[in-house]
Amino acid sequence: MHEAMREINLTTKIAVYLLEECSEMEKKLIDAAKSATTKAYAPYSGFRVGAAILLENGEIVVGNNQENAAYPSGLCAERTALFFANATHPDQKVEAVAVAAWHNGTFTHDVITPCGACRQVLLEAENRFQSPVKVLMYSEDGIYVVTAIKDLLPLSFGDEMLK
Ligand code: THU
Repeated sequence: MHEAMREINLTTKIAVYLLEECSEMEKKLIDAAKSATTKAYAPYSGFRVGAAILLENGEIVVGNNQENAAYPSGLCAERTALFFANATHPDQKVEAVAVAAWHNGTFTHDVITPCGACRQVLLEAENRFQSPVKVLMYSEDGIYVVTAIKDLLPLSFGDEMLK
């Protein structure tokens, strides 16, 4: 192997907060994500995920994971929530999303992070409305916050490539 001529190092800044350090709006969004876990349909994994989307007009739209006996036909909480938000409020900019997960009788002690496919779908909201989407990833022990989905998806493929 030759030494690389050049290398690129990508870094991601993640802020870590305790719930009490969050703003009232953030707490409200996290609460909405947590309560959405109770309505998840997750009979196969028992892993109940809730997502709450904050729209520009202050409305919060929630979703949760919807599983299926044909496993790949199910959908994650984040995409359920975002697609619902876009379907019902197509002109509302998406400002933030909070995610929480309930497993084995408790909210998780590890932060719940959106899967790759959900990051790609959330990126579309960021590009569609030309505005960053803040992501709050909940755990019982702390909350990870990134100020844009782009931070969770380096070298992403977006609409600019298709121009
Ligand atoms: N899941 C989500 O809904 N969001 C995530 O961020 C990770 C995983 C769901 C998919 C599936 O229903 C269950 O959690 C276990 O993977």
